[in-house]
Amino acid sequence: MDILEIRNVTKTFRTRTFWGKTKEVHALNGVSFTLKKGESLGIVGESGCGKSTLANLIIHLIEPTSGEILLYGKDISHAKEAEVRELRKKVQIVFQDPYSSLSPRMKIGDILMEPARVMKEFTEKERKERAEMLLGVVGLRKNVMDRYPHEFSGGQRQRISIARALMTRPDILILDEPTSALDVSVQAQVLNLLMDLRGKLNLTYLFISHNLAVVRYISDRTAVMQRGKLVEIGDSDQILTHPSDDYTKELIAAVPMIGKPFKEPEHLMELGGLDG
Ligand SMILES: Nc1ncnc2c1ncn2[C@@H]1O[C@H](COP(=O)(O)OP(=O)(O)OP(=O)(O)O)[C@@H](O)[C@H]1O
Ligand SMILES: [Mg+2]
Repeated sequence: MDILEIRNVTKTFRTRTFWGKTKEVHALNGVSFTLKKGESLGIVGESGCGKSTLANLIIHLIEPTSGEILLYGKDISHAKEAEVRELRKKVQIVFQDPYSSLSPRMKIGDILMEPARVMKEFTEKERKERAEMLLGVVGLRKNVMDRYPHEFSGGQRQRISIARALMTRPDILILDEPTSALDVSVQAQVLNLLMDLRGKLNLTYLFISHNLAVVRYISDRTAVMQRGKLVEIGDSDQILTHPSDDYTKELIAAVPMIGKPFKEPEHLMELGGLDG
């Protein structure tokens, strides 16, 4: 079953230049693809090609200029407030920067429970139990509920962000460069956690990264974007070993290690200290 369908989506931003002229940026230009339940789709492409714009459209932080975004077959591209609240239960996002995405003045427990409170999901007791359970799932102790974000490392903060994203029992996780800000050994641990969670919770992933090796490791299929367009989509191994599009070939050529199999994160873990 297609859980998400992006149909010919276009997003144009109008901005003003320093001199007061209006400038149009075509961030997305006729993008279409589908996502099946339980699948993991990687999105790669150079900086500014429209990856985050796509993520923001799916969680309805912004609306498309044209085209449709279907969640369970229903167009949500111009959803109203109540609909958006329902949508956010089902589609959650984890951002790149674990330092700015957790409110510094809130305790970890409140950071986890707040979205569910706003969405009126569960009773307060259930929210607390679920928050403690999820902290365990991501490899942290439940006694961290009363602590503040500054007491945690980057890798631990990203685990907290993942736990928060899972609070409302979402089906889809959008991961926008979730490990790019982490050092390599910690990156591997978080990737392993994501792989593990996907199987256990039957999650569907949209995994955005500029790291082709990481995308190949975590995604069944990969979509390649260039300047707002989707230039190639298909089986990750196939695309990253036998690309048909010239731009994909260029992307791969820019990363010498992609021709070789991605080093297993277990191996990388041995290199770094244990985090969390
Ligand atoms: N709110 C906005 N207002 C104006 N232009 C925007 C806005 N958001 C994005 N853009 C522009 O749209 C284009 C796509 O941006 P986007 O953030 O989606 O790229 P990206 O692929 O996520 O890049 P990166 O890999 O650097 O994160 C860029 O040219 C960007 O400057
Ligand atoms: Mg981005």
